[in-house]
Order: sequence, then structure tokens, then C-alpha cells
Amino acid sequence: MNFLFNEEQEMMGKMVRDFAKKEIAPCVEKMEETDEFPLALIRKMGEQGFMGIPISEKWGGAGADFVAFIQAIHEISKVSATVGAILSVHTSLGINPILTFGSEEQKQKYLPKMTAGEYIGAFALTESGAGSDAAKIKTTAVKKGEYYELNGSKIFITNGGAAQTYLTFAVSDPTKGSKGISAFIVEKGTPGFTIGKKEKKMGLHGSSTVELIFDQAKVPASQLLGVEGQGFEIAMANLDVGRIGIGAQALGIAEAALEHSLAYAKEREQFGRPISAFQGISFKLADMATQIEAARLMVYRAATLRAQGIKCGREASMAKRLASDTAMQVTTEAIQIFGGYGYIREYPVERLFRDAKVTQIYEGTNEIQRVVISRYLLED
Ligand code: CAA
Repeated sequence: MNFLFNEEQEMMGKMVRDFAKKEIAPCVEKMEETDEFPLALIRKMGEQGFMGIPISEKWGGAGADFVAFIQAIHEISKVSATVGAILSVHTSLGINPILTFGSEEQKQKYLPKMTAGEYIGAFALTESGAGSDAAKIKTTAVKKGEYYELNGSKIFITNGGAAQTYLTFAVSDPTKGSKGISAFIVEKGTPGFTIGKKEKKMGLHGSSTVELIFDQAKVPASQLLGVEGQGFEIAMANLDVGRIGIGAQALGIAEAALEHSLAYAKEREQFGRPISAFQGISFKLADMATQIEAARLMVYRAATLRAQGIKCGREASMAKRLASDTAMQVTTEAIQIFGGYGYIREYPVERLFRDAKVTQIYEGTNEIQRVVISRYLLED
């Protein structure tokens, strides 16, 4: 029994582990080779109830708590960080804003389809000139009768192309700074809205990352989420949640790297002994395991606070910062333990290393996490 989990969460963990082993693991190689979005797999996850884990049954979700959701991302990311990213963004940044800020009509229109995995969600905040400084976005939204006309472009949009809903942030009042940003649920197929270039990435092969183009896009006024000017608050509040998911993804990557390293260190012999018998290797393993344990505690503490409805922006940023740095350190050491074999594609640690890197960058770079954490400290 793991002291972190209750019986329901243990059950969810087992279900997800079994699914990941049986259904996700066989897709990993293909995603690496083709970089194709695993649509059939995501549909299967929808059938299993994984695409809306912490969402009430009223909306077609699994009705489990937030800890169970985080556990799912963690377990899935041990097998595929790509699928972990798709799930995290879909739930935390696709579904959650509609659940929290949506009108009854918007919830009815989107939530059942999203929790079933029929609709995939994306979150369109970042622009070429506004990454860390998210309030400086330039995409505009001008109200013209029953429509808003959106003009501009977004980059690095996870799930882009595969998604049906794009929560898009645009400036509706340029005189008000961050308070002049509004959020819109933009559907795929909206006139004037197109998917641009798909990026070729270092890692997370299979997760699509695209540019979005809004050229006099006609977005019905009913697609405004919340009220005009509430967009930045919606973005920040949901990133607080999403960052715990990225922490869980990083944790999964780090744990997988440790498991592979342990097995290899016990099996690989040099100088007549398994390399685990040398302190140079066993101490690395000890440090990797210790860092992972610390990251695990922080990720699940943030998740527990969220599950209890307690504000957790500070803890989410801390967990994301620590877990992603841990993933990078642990995967780097894993490659060192594997030696030359770690550097070639036949072994999984080089994929884990490439996948780990982006966890220090997206959903707010770790430098931005430090900005957030230090503001909490200094404001206290
Ligand atoms: N919750 C709710 N509202 C919040 C908030 C929060 N955590 N943080 C800020 N706000 C609101 C407040 O209303 C605040 O106004 P007040 O003055 O009334 O308090 C308003 O937003 C402005 O806040 P700040 O003054 O703090 O804004 P800032 O311009 O200084 O920026 C920042 C703060 C933390 C640096 C922010 O820009 C940020 O988080 N940047 C990183 C962006 C990011 O994470 N991008 C990720 C893109 S999505 C992604 O990566 C998904 C993926 O692919 C996996």
C-alpha cells in the first residue's frame, strides 16, 4: 500500500498502468518513427474514461478526484510522455477552463464530447512575440455584431490539428493591458481559422505542435468564455492546474529512466562485476531515486491541495520546477549509466532525455516558475 493513495486512487493507478502496458507501449515506436498523432489510441482512452478523469459524471467524466488524474498522467508518462502531454493539456487546459468559466450552454455543448475523447482540447495563448510575457499577445478580437473577428497567429500549440476546440486568447481592449484580454472557444472549421506549420520537435514525437492562423476569423459571440477582459485570469488560473500535470509527466519520465537504469546496471558487467557494484554507479542511482522521491512528494502534495479545493498556485509551480529539473538530471545520468548504449536509439533512455527537456520549458519556463514562486514569497 502506497501511503499517498486511497483505495479508489490505487484502483485508478492499476487500471491506467494496465492500459499503458497493453495499449500505449505498442504505439511508442511508431510515434517515434512517424511523428503521427495517436488518434486511435486517444479514442480508446476516451472509451476507458481517461479523457475526463477528474470531471463529474454529469458531464460524462469519470468522477474521480484530481489526485487520480495526476496519477494517470504520471503512470502514462512512464510509458509515453507524448500521451501524458496530450492528456494533461486536453484535461487541464482544454476541459477545465470550460468547466470553470463556461456558461451552461457551453458546458452542454462541449464537455460530454470532450470527456468522451471525441473532441480533443487545445489552449492557444503563446505567440511568436509573447511566450513568457503572455500578457503581451497581439492577436486581436473585435466585436462586429453577433461575431468577434479574430486576427493574428499563435505558435507552439499542443494538440493543434487534432483538436476540435482551441481556447484562444485575444486582445479585445488594447487600452487595458492584461485586463483587456478575452478568451474564446474557437472550433476547428471556423471560417478564417486555419492550422499552420507543424513543428518538428526534439522529443514528444506524436504530440502535434502547430501554428494557428486567424485571418478575419468569424467567431460567434456565444463562444466568448467568461466575460470580456477575463481572458488573462482564465489563462493563469488554468495554468496553475496544468503545471501539476506537467510535474506528473516529468515524474513519469524520471521514474522510467531510473527503472531502466537499475535493470541495466544490474545486468551490465565490466571488470568482472555488474556495474551496479561500483560506487560510481550505485551512488548515481541513489541520488536519482532520492530526487525522484522529493519530486513525487511535491507533485502529489500540489495535487492533493487542488483535490481539496485549496489554492495551490505556489505549490504547482514548485512541483513543476522541481519535477522537470529532476527529469532532466535523472535522464542525463541514465544515459551516462548506459554509456554508449544510452546514446543510441535502440535503448529508451535517449527518448526519455529528449522528452524530459520540454518539461523545463512549456506551461511556463522554469524561470517563470521561479518568478511565480518568488512573488508568493515576497507578497506573504
Ligand atoms: N490565477 C488567477 N488570476 C491570476 C493569476 C492566477 N494564478 N495570476 C495572475 N492573475 C491575474 C490577476 O488578475 C492579475 O491582475 P491583478 O493585478 O488584479 O492581481 C493579472 O492576471 C495580471 O497578473 P500579473 O501582473 O502577475 O501578470 P504578469 O504580466 O506580470 O505575468 C506571469 C505573470 C506569471 C509571468 C505570466 O505571464 C506567465 O505565467 N507567463 C508564462 C506563460 C505560460 O505559462 N505559457 C504557457 C503556454 S501553454 C502551454 O505551454 C501548454 C503546452 O503546450 C503544454
